[in-house]
Amino acid sequence: MTTRKESAGGAGSPPESRYRLDVHHGGAAYEDALAADALTGLTGPVKSLPPKYFYDADGSALFDRITTLPEYYLTRTEERIVKAMASRWMAEIRPAELVELGAGTCAKIRWLMDARNGASAPQRLLFLPFDVDARTMDGAVRGLLRDYAFLAVHGIIGDFQRDLSRVPAPGARRLAVFFGSTLGNLHPNERARVLQDLRGILRSGDCFLLGVDLVKDTGTLEAAYNDSAGVTAAFNRNILAVLNRHLGSDFDQAAYAHEAFYDRERSRIEMHLRPMTPQEVHIPRLGGLTVTVTPDETIWTESSYKFTREGVGEMLSAAGLPLVDWQTDTDGMFAMALARRD
Ligand code: SAH
Ligand code: TRP
Repeated sequence: MTTRKESAGGAGSPPESRYRLDVHHGGAAYEDALAADALTGLTGPVKSLPPKYFYDADGSALFDRITTLPEYYLTRTEERIVKAMASRWMAEIRPAELVELGAGTCAKIRWLMDARNGASAPQRLLFLPFDVDARTMDGAVRGLLRDYAFLAVHGIIGDFQRDLSRVPAPGARRLAVFFGSTLGNLHPNERARVLQDLRGILRSGDCFLLGVDLVKDTGTLEAAYNDSAGVTAAFNRNILAVLNRHLGSDFDQAAYAHEAFYDRERSRIEMHLRPMTPQEVHIPRLGGLTVTVTPDETIWTESSYKFTREGVGEMLSAAGLPLVDWQTDTDGMFAMALARRD
């Protein structure tokens, strides 16, 4: 573990003095985890890779483009709901600390910060963004510090499936936020663990705001993950570039077709990479392992589960985070769930 710390000053002090960053998952730790996950994923009966490896600087930039695609209704719908509710939620919860899981470009947290900024005298707010992608977060935080004088930032680079307990204990009323239905990229047992860990960094009465994509017709869902501009396909293939860079492998990105389909029974989009011709891949950092991938199989790279109000209520209650508010857009496409730790 490498840790970089910059001390935090008071509101109004220069941006640098209000910024501290802890790295729990950089360099060698990241590469060791990637190697172990790639070995497990590529040598099992069904080939798969964990989706967290999509997000290097290129992957985060591609995801940012996905959020503006016409077919990708999730981001703009979430924006409409949050902007409509932000003032009320912030006034009711009065958080002094915001924790954001998978913060990425930190664009969405501004919707809440802007609402607070509208208050007569904004008090100091501590923002704790948590993400695996250090470069994207570092750039985003510098922009936030410039734009919000009342902000202090304690960023955490980590894997939210592993390192959530590293988030410092709350010092005051805390609101945790998880936008973009990123929780839905985890399988049910994995979600339960993350929520349990999340509960551990909240105190009784603290809140959790969760964005979830809702079950709907197959056409709308599949279009969102098969955009006509091919950005999602490029995002999907980028995971192979990440492996090549860190493991020295020779995956040929152009040889794989992007596939995404909705499995209604399991309420999830599945995303896969299918080779168009048989592929033989060499992976030096996995002891020279050779993996063959044939056109009758795929590498499963991602799932995106879709939710119902009942399902979300049960999931949150089971984690000791009972639902206190549920807001959807008028078409019932996306929802924001607000929970309060009991
Ligand atoms: N919150 C933004 C970004 C969503 S993309 C939005 O809603 O638009 C998912 C984000 O979660 C990326 O920034 C990615 O780097 C991060 N992420 C994915 N898996 C992660 C993990 N296991 N631990 C920490 N961050 C993760
Ligand atoms: N949380 C987002 C979602 O499930 C992540 C995402 C959007 C995504 N598009 C993607 C993940 C394409 C993989 C592939 O919608």
